[in-house]
Amino acid sequence: MLEQINMLREKGQNELNALNSTDQLPEWYYRYLGRKGDLTSLLKQLGTLSSEERPAMGKVINEVKQELQESFELRQKTLRETNLSQQLEIDDLDVTLPGRPCTTGHLHLTTQTLRRIYKIFQEMGFQVYEAPEVESDEFNFQLLNIPEYHPARDMWDTFWVNDEVVLRTHTSPGQIWAMREYYPEPIRVILPGKCYRFEQITPRSEHQFFQVEGLAIGKNIRLTDLIGVMSEFAHKMYGVERKVRFRGSYFPFTEPSIEIDMSCSCGEEDGTESSGCRLCKYTGWLEVAGAGMVHPAVLRNGGYDPEEWSGFAFGMGVERPALLKHNIDDIRYFYGNDLRFLQQF
Ligand code: DAH
Repeated sequence: MLEQINMLREKGQNELNALNSTDQLPEWYYRYLGRKGDLTSLLKQLGTLSSEERPAMGKVINEVKQELQESFELRQKTLRETNLSQQLEIDDLDVTLPGRPCTTGHLHLTTQTLRRIYKIFQEMGFQVYEAPEVESDEFNFQLLNIPEYHPARDMWDTFWVNDEVVLRTHTSPGQIWAMREYYPEPIRVILPGKCYRFEQITPRSEHQFFQVEGLAIGKNIRLTDLIGVMSEFAHKMYGVERKVRFRGSYFPFTEPSIEIDMSCSCGEEDGTESSGCRLCKYTGWLEVAGAGMVHPAVLRNGGYDPEEWSGFAFGMGVERPALLKHNIDDIRYFYGNDLRFLQQF
């Protein structure tokens, strides 16, 4: 039996050393060290020996088993290491290279612009108030002092959902929502959001765009408050060197109504009076917002008594100022979702 054991040991060692891949390891293990392996069957044969021979032989078998077990572990380790270094050579992988950073996105240019606007008005005590994008004819027009069939409706080319429901053409209906919610408190809110117009899409107009509406209601609010707030806004948004101009205008929901212009950057660049460029259509001025004192009829529709309360409102575009600031010549890029454009800001 001793001879048998020694042969097994030698054969086992030789075969183990001849293995050249980790795939071959399990097979070897089962053959020599497994529960049905050769060494185990030798151990089982111990019972056939005399009681004098048995302990010595058992000891030898266990020593060989121990020895093969250690050799196996050593071989396994070597083969795994060789395997890894071969793999690395084939894959041409340099684990010492720094990893490639994942690209992270950033806020859309419109969102960036909106947030700048929020911040400026927040500093003046305005809260953000959100109103519905799908509106009734009543809120979008009638309560804003624009009755059915009134010619002023031509100012807004409208997407009609049905005879009574529209995609809001401006953020002004939010004024009514805010007034009805806050009455009888004074109000200072801005109302940002998407608006829709059934217009031909051109470099200067999209059928969807953002506006920010503003509304202040109080006991003693005057046109000069509006002028002060809008001058402050224009300076914070576009720089103190910009001049702001107020022109008389018409909107059904304000009386008096004004439009707010800002001096164009073309005048700023050469340090002289604005002479004009393509952006400002050679006038030296850019339109920023429509505004005015809230019409008594609108105050009343919001629940406020015009004898007691007064207020101002304004509405401004969001994409157009961004266009101007970054010298972008086509508003359609904003919603084209082309990363080559969006990544620049
Ligand atoms: N809603 C107007 C528009 O979309 C803009 C506007 C003008 C809003 C005057 C106002 C305002 O609040 O007072 O053309």
